[in-house]
Amino acid sequence: MPLATSAPPAHHLRLWWRRRGRAGAVGATFAVALLAAGFLLELSYYVSSVPHAPTPSSGRRPALVDLTLVRRAEDKGALCLDGSAPGYHLQRGSGTGSQSWLLHLEGGGWCRNLRSCASRQKSVLGSSLYMEHQVEFAGILSNDKSQNPDFYNWNKVKIRYCDGASFSGNVKDELQNGTKFFFRGQRIWEAVMNELLLKGLRHAKQAFLTGCSAGGLATYIHCDNFHALLPKDSRVKCLADGGFFLDVEDISRQRTMRAFYSDVVRLQDMRGRFSHCGPNMDLGQCFFPSEVVKGITTPVFVLNPAYDAWQVQHVLAPKVSDPQHSWLNCRLDISKCDSNQLEILQGFRKELHNAISELRHKRDWGFFIDSCFVHCQSLNSLTWHSASSPRVNNKTIAEAVGDWFFDRREVKEIDCEYPCNPTCHNLVFAKPFKA
Ligand SMILES: *[C@@H]1O[C@H](CO)[C@@H](O)[C@H](O)[C@H]1NC(C)=O
Ligand SMILES: *[C@@H]1O[C@H](CO)[C@@H](O)[C@H](O)[C@H]1NC(C)=O
Repeated sequence: MPLATSAPPAHHLRLWWRRRGRAGAVGATFAVALLAAGFLLELSYYVSSVPHAPTPSSGRRPALVDLTLVRRAEDKGALCLDGSAPGYHLQRGSGTGSQSWLLHLEGGGWCRNLRSCASRQKSVLGSSLYMEHQVEFAGILSNDKSQNPDFYNWNKVKIRYCDGASFSGNVKDELQNGTKFFFRGQRIWEAVMNELLLKGLRHAKQAFLTGCSAGGLATYIHCDNFHALLPKDSRVKCLADGGFFLDVEDISRQRTMRAFYSDVVRLQDMRGRFSHCGPNMDLGQCFFPSEVVKGITTPVFVLNPAYDAWQVQHVLAPKVSDPQHSWLNCRLDISKCDSNQLEILQGFRKELHNAISELRHKRDWGFFIDSCFVHCQSLNSLTWHSASSPRVNNKTIAEAVGDWFFDRREVKEIDCEYPCNPTCHNLVFAKPFKA
């Protein structure tokens, strides 16, 4: 099957990490595929992949892992938006890790209407026709012990995201307004789990469901179901990275994100599948982690920056709410925010902390809320675990997550306020958003 290396509507933008808020960007530049307008909140875009850290001279290059398409996907009705088979990348574990499994749900925003889902159908996020044959496994997926001390030799799976609604829709009807659309994320989840169970997951002694961004949200949604699929005596936990989207007013006092989620939930007819989503609750509210987590009984680790770059750009200061473009520079580079904007960002951080503090009574849960301007920190060796990783209480994210997973200590880390943490890798977006 011909597979393109990237989706047609992808630009490449350059992007820098900045440390210590200095004016000069340090380190290498990273090419990042940015998917064009249409996927998200009107005319904005989404960072589809976190930049890869430069390969440390001592380290190995990340392994390339083949794509496997789900078998008999059509019979199961488990299909990507365009009707193609969904897929995943599986790397077998070894040694002491051979009966341990780490799954990662890919992220990539959502589509809210038929127009945006139609353009997604022609991309890597809506069709396996466009997916890469191989992807790099880095960060939490790395098989290099120095980059991934606790999980390096586990069975690891990256599950591709192609349904547009965090692996959660299940619309029987294929025709929407005369055009074929498959809203089948739930069936994709089930089909992939069934296939992995047969490939050894059913004998797992330890299992860890992880995901980033829209995949982080999917992790909250599917965590308990994942737990239920595994042997009773196994250790099962979940990690949601950059997935704690906040139900807050934006800079123009609009609930832009809630309206967006409302469209997604309606489009993929998801009200019925959430028990926490009562008839009187605003549709969009159902999809926020703060609601989803209320019912979760499996231990979850919340990994989120306080100034999540994606959320600053799409939840707090979305383009539609900034007609004067006064947030333009601040959205691209946190060191360019003026004092008023910083105050608003600190308010946003406080909202996240308030939401997280609701979780404090969940004893087995963990969190790591650093004060960096970044998004998705587990998939990249530079942010996950390296000599120059962001640290809170002198622990890298990999150390904190490993300590929590294996019950070595309680991990409930909250960083001090920006710009206090000199170890942050703050993203710098080099180009303004395209209108
Ligand atoms: C379906 O098409 C009709 C007429 O073109 C339009 O008014 C309606 O909004 C469309 N429905 C959706 C869900 O896009
Ligand atoms: C921080 O951790 C490193 C090892 O990861 C250690 O060498 C160093 O002494 C620690 N620093 C402090 C201040 O505890």
